[in-house]
Amino acid sequence: MGNLSDYLLGVNQRELERLQFQHSVWGPVTRRFFERLGAGKGWKCLDVGAGPGFVSNDLRQLVGQEGEVTALEPSELYLNWFKDSVSKKGWTNVKFVRGTAEQAPLPSRYFDLVFARWVIAFVPDPDLFLSRLVASMRVGGIIAFQDYYYEGLSLFPCGGAWDRMPDVVRAYYRSGEGDAFITGRLPAMFANHGLKLIDFTPTCLAGGPGSPVMEWAHQFFSIHTQHMVEKGIITQDEADALQSDWEAHRRNPNALFFSPLVVDVGGLLQL
Ligand SMILES: C[S@@+](CC[C@H](N)C(=O)[O-])C[C@H]1O[C@@H](n2cnc3c(N)ncnc32)[C@H](O)[C@@H]1O
Repeated sequence: MGNLSDYLLGVNQRELERLQFQHSVWGPVTRRFFERLGAGKGWKCLDVGAGPGFVSNDLRQLVGQEGEVTALEPSELYLNWFKDSVSKKGWTNVKFVRGTAEQAPLPSRYFDLVFARWVIAFVPDPDLFLSRLVASMRVGGIIAFQDYYYEGLSLFPCGGAWDRMPDVVRAYYRSGEGDAFITGRLPAMFANHGLKLIDFTPTCLAGGPGSPVMEWAHQFFSIHTQHMVEKGIITQDEADALQSDWEAHRRNPNALFFSPLVVDVGGLLQL
């Protein structure tokens, strides 16, 4: 993708707040991934598709004053939001690059860690995306993705309209030229780019009505189901049926929501 206007989820204040809440739910999974990768003081990190910088913020805390974090993000709204928050903290070792991974100028053989959460599933040419990022890593550096392998999403009790939702979301991603199964392709892509696979860890979060993970899903579907109708992926009647099955589960104290699999994929750049 060369253009922000192609980005499926869109950029606006409501989506920014959704991303913020999302980080409160999934941030612990991301931080455990960084721990396994050994990221720490002094590392130079690139956060690709940083959004409003929630992961960049965590990375800055991890690398300290002696490290460095670069937030790469095409949206001005998100980047400015993060710039404000960094300047309030007085941090001097955070850099901001406005642009896409495919087009932005990036230093060559520089970063110890290149990270992208929920970005590569949206891009039409993941191989180009990956090759630009690999060129910015030092040899011995790590690249790490967190993204979907879009299985697992479900509501219990099953049997209602919502059972179709995984297919609907996969079609939503395809409509933006993305791939909701992208993490399944990454090990082979890593091998083609001289990256040794060092981590491949799927996570499914689950919870009932009122749990953070079910609220996370509620926010996503409240915003994006209507967008799916506008894109012709589902009809308004189908959207209404999905919504009423979802609401019935939210009222059922014994219901359970299972998230789609989010897979941590880590690669080491070899000589
Ligand atoms: C779902 S958001 C995730 C934001 C952040 N990574 C997080 O986990 O909170 C995806 C972000 O990727 C950005 N993005 C989309 N296409 C991109 C590309 N080709 N290169 C870099 N960033 C991109 C969007 O502007 C958006 O901020």
